[in-house]
Amino acid sequence: MVVDSNEIETVTVIGGGQMGRGIGAVSALSGYETYINDIDESQLNEAKERIEWSYEKSVEKKQATETEIEDALDRLSFTTELEEAIEGTDFVMEAAVEQQSVKEDIFEDLDEIAPADAILATNTSGLNITRLAEVTDRPSQVVGTHWFNPPMLMELVEVIMTEYTPDEVADTAEDLIESFDKTAIRCRIDIPSFIVNRLMRPYGEGPAWMVYRGEHTFEEIDSAMKFKEGFPMGPFELADFTGGIQIRVEGEQDHLEDDRPMSYDTEVCPLLHQLYDKGRYGRKADAGYYEYDEQDEPQVA
Ligand code: NAI
Repeated sequence: MVVDSNEIETVTVIGGGQMGRGIGAVSALSGYETYINDIDESQLNEAKERIEWSYEKSVEKKQATETEIEDALDRLSFTTELEEAIEGTDFVMEAAVEQQSVKEDIFEDLDEIAPADAILATNTSGLNITRLAEVTDRPSQVVGTHWFNPPMLMELVEVIMTEYTPDEVADTAEDLIESFDKTAIRCRIDIPSFIVNRLMRPYGEGPAWMVYRGEHTFEEIDSAMKFKEGFPMGPFELADFTGGIQIRVEGEQDHLEDDRPMSYDTEVCPLLHQLYDKGRYGRKADAGYYEYDEQDEPQVA
């Protein structure tokens, strides 16, 4: 038995970082009892603060009432105890760090503890979801739900199927996403980086090589994309906003070892490694391709 969309009452988010806190904020505001779990207590404290800030903004913009926000905050629980977060859950969205081995360990634990009918989803940016399904005894209940940053504001969520995912499970994931007032698009094949990130890859990695080879500067490329092509952010600004340097470097080995068709077969541009080694992960670290003042950092959950 697999949970049906109209039976979902409780949602659990694993990882309370940039994405997890936003997904949790959306879920609680949409009426679900929501647990956010992280191994790091300080991340949970920060998640709580940022969600409160984000909710206040929603009230200011008249997107939610004070009462709706109070109710949403009542529905939110933050815990470092995995068991507490998943023992009564209906739907898990994993948003921990972008490393295949970490995610596989998490999925083994989820499978052991979560109710048998619960669906286990991952927010991976492009790692191997089929392998996550295979570490569980419920591969048909594993699916990708890939959000965009920041979850409170971005409308699109990709729902990714593996060879084990039946339509009913993808349908349930899509119904849940739509109950969050988001738009789901389905990626019918578990292919590295799915649809959007796959399309965007030439705009992210190509420009890094151009700078590395000394052909252009960050500013020239970002300006060209914004002013000539009409993109809201240039590739380096976007990567600093999303934490793309960290995601790409930490996922590099997993991508190189990935045996799915169309896997990434190229190494990450050394420029990203140089920045990563200096802790320049993007806005959240106050430096990435560019440098930022702490107050520049967007608060949104
Ligand atoms: P982040 O680094 O901000 O947050 C990751 C969190 O996971 C941290 O708080 C960390 O303490 C926690 N964590 C690590 N191991 C854990 C475990 N075993 N159990 C529970 N929590 C654990 O990362 P971010 O940016 O939120 O990314 C999370 C996931 O979402 C990654 O898979 C990433 O590829 C994906 N993603 C990121 C996007 C972005 O724009 N940053 C967009 C879409 C997907």
